[in-house]
Amino acid sequence: MRPQASADKIEAVRCSSFGRMAAGQPKGYQAAMDAVRAGQGFSLQAPGRTAVGIWLLVVAVLIIAMVVVGGLTRLTGSGLSITEWDPIMGAIPPLSDAAWADAFAKYKLIPQYAHVNAGMSLADFQAIYWWEWTHRLLGRAIGFVFFVPFVWFAWTGAIARKEWPRMLLLFVLGGLQGAVGWWMVMSGLEVRDSVSQYRLAIHLGVALLLLGAIVWTALEYLRGTRRGGPRGVTSRQTSWSFALVALIYAQMLLGALVAGLHAGLIYNTWPMMDRYWLPEGAFFNSPWWINFFENPGLVQFDHRIAAYAVMAIALPLGWSVRKHKPGTEAVNAAGFVFWLTIAQVLLGIMTLRTHVLVPLAALHQLNAALLLCAAIWLAFELRGISLPSAPGPNPR
Ligand code: HEM
Repeated sequence: MRPQASADKIEAVRCSSFGRMAAGQPKGYQAAMDAVRAGQGFSLQAPGRTAVGIWLLVVAVLIIAMVVVGGLTRLTGSGLSITEWDPIMGAIPPLSDAAWADAFAKYKLIPQYAHVNAGMSLADFQAIYWWEWTHRLLGRAIGFVFFVPFVWFAWTGAIARKEWPRMLLLFVLGGLQGAVGWWMVMSGLEVRDSVSQYRLAIHLGVALLLLGAIVWTALEYLRGTRRGGPRGVTSRQTSWSFALVALIYAQMLLGALVAGLHAGLIYNTWPMMDRYWLPEGAFFNSPWWINFFENPGLVQFDHRIAAYAVMAIALPLGWSVRKHKPGTEAVNAAGFVFWLTIAQVLLGIMTLRTHVLVPLAALHQLNAALLLCAAIWLAFELRGISLPSAPGPNPR
């Protein structure tokens, strides 16, 4: 029996309301540590913690759904159809002919209507309106699904008081994301006929930060706040797992730049970019560095290269964790990372080859979010190597 295998449970107990009692009883804690060292199973997970973990996972699933619906909203050209931001009353869609006529009249004032959709019918307008409305409604629903159970869990003590600020911070970040979304939409209402690629990337970036923080917190509740990685895991593997999370995050932001610049509609060949390895005019704009953010050819090139870098880390890491630590949760996480990486790259190539076929592009986005979660799970399982500190006498 590994000492650290159950140390997370002890740590979990210390952090729960039940754990606060246990923490006041060094004797019980000591007995638990002795049981762990003696190789006996030890299960003292407060039931409330599991419920909190599952609730956070539900919120994470809803955020992933939100990311996919947001992607579909963009891919169907629907994102600018609601030209106002009303967090409360905006939940009610137009309910009468007059209300629809009013919403449509407002849309006709923005450049996208004139440049892209001139002469569209009311029925076509309603189709794009419903995408954007659903995206916003889902955002409100997530706020509700987060806040109401949080109040309940806080009240019953399943979420310890010291955890409240962290949970409230997550809630505020969710609210901030709504404002960032509107800030992004505003960039497409006056001069441009689509949103700024920078704001699109920031909007996706905040959503992913929120998703990552919620998944990590859920894991802490479900798996305990253990600080020791499984035996056999080297600190290098741990460092690589965190580097992988950062790289996948950066790669997803690059994907947003590709999407925002419509760079998936050019150079639709693979592995070469038409007849070139580096696209023509890669550094055409001045200053040279601006090309990394605004030149569609170079941005697509960067997205390809970063994908190879993700593969270069994810595949060997997944393989080595499977090899060195069979039978642990880290191996399950590594398996997900390994296969989701392969799927992600294949989906990216197919998305590109098909000139951004909507279902493929949406799957590419969904798989990316799942890959990020799997990488976070792997980093969680491999993190830190140190025994938990005891509230009573020090563990040997
Ligand atoms: C680890 C690898 C990859 C990750 C994590 C990733 C992630 C993403 C994400 C998150 C987006 C969408 C951003 C948004 O809609 O806001 C995106 C877009 C895109 N990606 Fe990837 N990608 C990867 C690999 C690839 C590869 C290998 C290719 C092609 C060679 C590719 C081609 C594209 C294209 C064409 C788009 C734009 C689709 C659109 O306009 O909606 N991706 N990527």
